[in-house]
Amino acid sequence: MRYTYKSPHSDQEWHDYFQLRWQILRAPWQQASGSERDEFENSAFHIAALDARHITVGVGRIHQLTGAQAQIRYMAVHTEHRGYGIGGEILSRLEQQAQLWSCSEILLNARVEFLEFYLKHDYLIIGEAPTLFGSIEHKRMHKLLAR
Ligand SMILES: CC(C)(COP(=O)(O)OP(=O)(O)OC[C@H]1O[C@@H](n2cnc3c(N)ncnc32)[C@H](O)[C@@H]1OP(=O)(O)O)[C@@H](O)C(=O)NCCC(=O)NCCS
Repeated sequence: MRYTYKSPHSDQEWHDYFQLRWQILRAPWQQASGSERDEFENSAFHIAALDARHITVGVGRIHQLTGAQAQIRYMAVHTEHRGYGIGGEILSRLEQQAQLWSCSEILLNARVEFLEFYLKHDYLIIGEAPTLFGSIEHKRMHKLLAR
């Protein structure tokens, strides 16, 4: 299937973007609607993947921590669309944005279940990260960017 990638723009696109984030990353752990957002949404860069029917099937976000560092959060691809390269494409576009910000390092906290995905994209484990909702173990990872 062909996918298109864009930053959410319309009210509907923003709704669908946050809805998918909540559905994949919060709802399975009985977290309330709204818990999928933080204080960096307005300053962050967001990418959504849309399928041929313009349904949002993948999301990801990056925000600047400092002039040199950026953090990726809230990567999520709908279960039926995994394994088709959507996550990799979103990651690559978020990395391009970090380059535009002239960042030299990207940080993220990866669920241990998905470490392999980030390792394949040249992220390295640099330590432990907080366990989420009492059960989801995370590792701190980073990637240095060529300038
Ligand atoms: C992690 C995630 C975003 C990857 O999205 P995706 O669209 O399936 O990723 P891609 O199709 O680009 O996969 C890229 C590679 O990672 C691999 N991969 C993806 N998930 C994997 C997993 N759980 N274990 C091992 N490898 C995995 C794929 O096999 C693929 O490798 P290949 O290109 O050599 O075949 C998606 O699985 C997801 O939404 N997971 C649940 C949400 C989540 O926990 N997000 C936060 C992660 S910290």
